[in-house]
Amino acid sequence: MNALEIMPTTMNQIYHYPVMYREILTLLNLSEKKVVVDCTVGVGSHALRMLEAMKSDALFIGIDRDEDSLSQACAKLQIFGKRVILIKSDFSNIDSVLLNLHIAKADAFIFDLGISTYQLSESNRGFSFSKEGPLDMRMDKNSFVCAADLVNNLSEIELENIFRKFGEERYAYRIARAITDMRRREPIVTTTQLAEIILRATPLKVRDWRLHPATRVFQALRIAVNRELEALKAGIDKAVTLLNAGGRIAVISFHSLEDRIVKHTLRDFSHKGVLKIITKKPIIAGEQELLENNPSRSAKLRVAEKI
Ligand SMILES: C[S@@+](CC[C@H](N)C(=O)[O-])C[C@H]1O[C@@H](n2cnc3c(N)ncnc32)[C@H](O)[C@@H]1O
Repeated sequence: MNALEIMPTTMNQIYHYPVMYREILTLLNLSEKKVVVDCTVGVGSHALRMLEAMKSDALFIGIDRDEDSLSQACAKLQIFGKRVILIKSDFSNIDSVLLNLHIAKADAFIFDLGISTYQLSESNRGFSFSKEGPLDMRMDKNSFVCAADLVNNLSEIELENIFRKFGEERYAYRIARAITDMRRREPIVTTTQLAEIILRATPLKVRDWRLHPATRVFQALRIAVNRELEALKAGIDKAVTLLNAGGRIAVISFHSLEDRIVKHTLRDFSHKGVLKIITKKPIIAGEQELLENNPSRSAKLRVAEKI
């Protein structure tokens, strides 16, 4: 394994359900591909299945901006030896990643957006409102701004805009106001402290009991901290440019903001005659998968082929 500076974890390996992996294997025609790039390799669960479906002389490149996830993937994929290269990078830099590897083009790209069960389960990463932890939410632990920086330093109107734009949160104003009131008394530094403020700011009578009131605000902060939507547009644009003719790109998104960007970006390339859309409507998880993995319920898969 040529895993540039990435060490396999010695901790127990984590399981993450690879969303719609059967559909991915079928739609990417992996048995014919020579170079496959997983732009969000995570803990390597899709990767494992994809490598099993690929020819033994085909190359797999796995990218992620989270070092801990890469260490998990490294341990899981060691059995494939030199067929696998793992790189720590933001996928919006996919062009530099391939350039550094002296690879001009690839035959398949996959993006499985958001965060993994692993990241969510690690309380010290601060992604989950149900686990006490630092208000962090950085996918790349070396990046400068964490969620606590935003929550404690942005103005009320800036916070409201983030909650409204990236969380589609109806009570954005009330929650932003509650945060600025609280932080005048003490800094907001933990996940549960923030979840509690959101809970108190959300009117009891309109609460949707299927969704914790903090869900949308946590999603919004994660998107803002990691600048996820900018990276997504840049990543897809570059991947399409780097695809060989006949190669395919697959993107799994988990909320409407992401799906809108994926849909419009692929459609724009299709109007320019660069891509053929394979999935006219997004594919959603089948009944069996929904029984096996609840988070798949919000997943949408779109696939296109380079002309
Ligand atoms: C849903 S998980 C992917 C899980 C993976 N498919 C698997 O089977 O283990 C999404 C992953 O994408 C990574 N990620 C999100 N945005 C990224 C970006 N802009 N560049 C690189 N990695 C990113 C996250 O750190 C996370 O590990």
